[in-house]
Amino acid sequence: MTDYKKIIVTGGAGFIGSNFVHYVYNNHPEVEKIYVLDKLTYAGNRANIEEILGERVELVVGDIADATLVDELASKVDAIVHYAAESHNDNSLKSQDEFIHTNFIGTYTLIQAARKYDLRFHHVSTDEVYGDLPYREDLPGHGEGEGEKFTDKTPYNPSSPYSSTKAASDLIVRAWVRSFGLKATISNCSNNYGPYQHIEKFIPRQITNILSGIRPKLYGDGKNVRDWIHTEDHSSGVWTILTKGKIGETYLIGADGEKNNKEVLELILAEMGQTADAYDHVTDRAGHDLRYAIDNTKLRTELGWSPVHTDFESGIKDTIKWYTEHENWWKAEKAAVEANYAKTQEVLKK
Ligand code: NAD
Ligand code: DAU
Repeated sequence: MTDYKKIIVTGGAGFIGSNFVHYVYNNHPEVEKIYVLDKLTYAGNRANIEEILGERVELVVGDIADATLVDELASKVDAIVHYAAESHNDNSLKSQDEFIHTNFIGTYTLIQAARKYDLRFHHVSTDEVYGDLPYREDLPGHGEGEGEKFTDKTPYNPSSPYSSTKAASDLIVRAWVRSFGLKATISNCSNNYGPYQHIEKFIPRQITNILSGIRPKLYGDGKNVRDWIHTEDHSSGVWTILTKGKIGETYLIGADGEKNNKEVLELILAEMGQTADAYDHVTDRAGHDLRYAIDNTKLRTELGWSPVHTDFESGIKDTIKWYTEHENWWKAEKAAVEANYAKTQEVLKK
């Protein structure tokens, strides 16, 4: 149950935001109205929520940095759950304006409105604000599952234009809590996977490469570690924090899913009937973070959350199945996404 009968979900037509809209729609009938505020950039897709659009879920196509539009919507609701962002590190290395605009100015616009109408505000952020962790050469898999992990006390140390604009947005949310009593919480989650993820991102890019007869592309030596979580577990984490979290607190969401990129790629290759070496090494990402790992103790022990999708192999199988069966969702964009990557990425080794 919740006190929030009417909510805005920004970025609710993107990968993770649309999963959250479905999650609330299916599991929380007490939420009477969900306004999805989404600009429908290249990453937003009406199809992600099409089947539930109607009286309860309304898509408002617009910019979170449009103060007039945001004010009008904010006057009608009890809470804002803020997902909208420019979310891709590689894009942020090519052009930064949109990242400053959406991630920083957009968040600023939303918190000003939340403050004016005294709304509950949940800010969805990323573990990348903490920078990266060292990996341990002495441990198999470079220390995955062992050693230091991010907590809400880890100092901010972002590496990319993407993560630094997310960090900046977190900091203004925190300052608005302290200075103006904004009723906000923040979550910092690790790498999500699952259906509806844009094909520019690692896992869907490799799956759709194989489906398109293109060799998968691995950055560097593939030893970089990401802490994978299924997007449905992210949604349940955000709901838990929205409804049970303590104002002013930051909660880290992660599902103990550390894997290095090479391992993930080899799993995809095996599941799709390819040989383990059927991929290319390409130019590494500038400033490429080595390892992310989340300590989720606070969310588990203080708010009683736990992930459900803990079998990564079966999650990957389902994800491969989804992209195989939903070619019409991604096919039209594939050539352009790969052409864009090809401008800066060179095949180093087959
Ligand atoms: P996405 O790129 O798939 O979707 C972003 C959505 O925001 C799109 O629908 C887009 O149209 C919308 N949007 C962009 N700019 C906008 C603007 N100015 N006004 C209104 N809407 C706008 O992103 P995602 O992967 O679903 O990530 C969602 C959120 O979760 C982001 O805040 C991201 O930082 C955070 N996050 C993502 C991950 C991950 O693994 N993808 C992990 C942790 C946190
Ligand atoms: O940790 C949370 C973050 O996870 C989110 O904040 C970001 O929005 C989300 O995009 C994601 O960031 P990453 O940069 O980790 O995700 P990406 O899918 O771009 O890459 C995952 C890893 O795979 C990373 O180490 C880079 C590597 N990679 C990526 C691509 C696209 C490859 O090796 N080959 C590729 O083709």
